Amino acid sequence: MRLTQLRLHQFRSYEQLTLLPPSGTTVLVGENGAGKTNLLEAIHLCCLGRSHRTSNDRDMIRLGSRTCAVHAHVARAAVNDEVGVRLFAQQGERKVIYVNGKTVSRIGELMGHMTCVMFSPEDLGLVKGSPQERRTYLDMLLSQSQAAYFYAIQTYHSILRQRNALLKEIARGRADARSLEVWDEQLANAAGPIVIHRRDAANTISGLAAEHYAYIADRGREGFFMRYQSSLADSLDPRETLMQQLAASREDDLRRLTTSYGPHRDELRLMLEGQEMRSFASQGQARTAALAMRLAQIDILTKAHNETPLLLLDDVLSELDAGRQTRLLVRLDRMQTLLTCTELNGLKNVNPHAVLTVKDGTVLSL
Ligand SMILES: Nc1ncnc2c1ncn2[C@@H]1O[C@H](COP(=O)(O)OP(=O)(O)OP(=O)(O)O)[C@@H](O)[C@H]1O
Ligand SMILES: [Mg+2]
Repeated sequence: MRLTQLRLHQFRSYEQLTLLPPSGTTVLVGENGAGKTNLLEAIHLCCLGRSHRTSNDRDMIRLGSRTCAVHAHVARAAVNDEVGVRLFAQQGERKVIYVNGKTVSRIGELMGHMTCVMFSPEDLGLVKGSPQERRTYLDMLLSQSQAAYFYAIQTYHSILRQRNALLKEIARGRADARSLEVWDEQLANAAGPIVIHRRDAANTISGLAAEHYAYIADRGREGFFMRYQSSLADSLDPRETLMQQLAASREDDLRRLTTSYGPHRDELRLMLEGQEMRSFASQGQARTAALAMRLAQIDILTKAHNETPLLLLDDVLSELDAGRQTRLLVRLDRMQTLLTCTELNGLKNVNPHAVLTVKDGTVLSL
């Protein structure tokens, strides 16, 4: 797919901007703080309805403004779509999502119109960070490939919040412990499909990422793989199993005021030569694993939509040695790519179709 137009209004450092990216590779060059990542973040927002680097939507609104908006035109094989997101500074005012000129009530309806894969310096956290970061990786990947998954995960988290709130009410003597049963059942209903999707995806991604890892590292098989870890990982009926686990841990949950079992406790373990990468991987190995996970994400999205996603490469090439740069670029060939850098001479083997200079909230052609 191809992003043909991007329009920003009061987004981060940009007051007003229209960008018409060509197909092929666009290089965004500029000093630190110039606003390069802001542009990629705006595209990510149009794809997924959220930022890749903050969970607080209001951070994206230009300081002093009460609202911001981003719109994108995307050309796909069969259709052209226009998607957009508007955010508001005022507490309680909900974000508005646009698809082809109409507002839609659910973020899930945005998913799949425009898909992207972002490579960013924060990706090191995929390997070194908390289990939450790897769950988010899986959830975002699955949400972009099938909107139904996004709804499932939203529902699950909403039920989980209500169950946890009820645990506190029971502890204060304001509710009856028996009322948990209803929530346990709902939580288990919501958890079943999530576990099945995550388990399948983890297997597929592991195979794809292992191949990418070996290629980027240029070492033959280095023994990289992923393992889905969940109290429900081996269950033939995750719904039923979770019901049993919730019943068995009820007293614990009431004491700790939190839900001990369920997909919110899942972990995607990354292993290299039999060791847990989170604690054992070197910086270079961690970086290679993160690239391999992003490349696997491209494979999955391409297969799900029969079209390549947009590639957003934030400052990643300068971190790689020349061999890894070249091998990565070979795999990214023929996809529309927007990449950022601070120095053009840090890029080897890139043949850009456009080079744009980013400075103080403006973008100029070189
Ligand atoms: N909500 C906001 N309103 C106004 N300006 C903002 C807002 N959020 C961030 N900025 C500004 O945007 C700039 C950062 O932009 P960005 O992260 O895109 O930089 P960058 O070009 O990617 O830099 P680097 O090379 O260091 O990664 C900073 O100058 C920051 O002050
Ligand atoms: Mg940046």
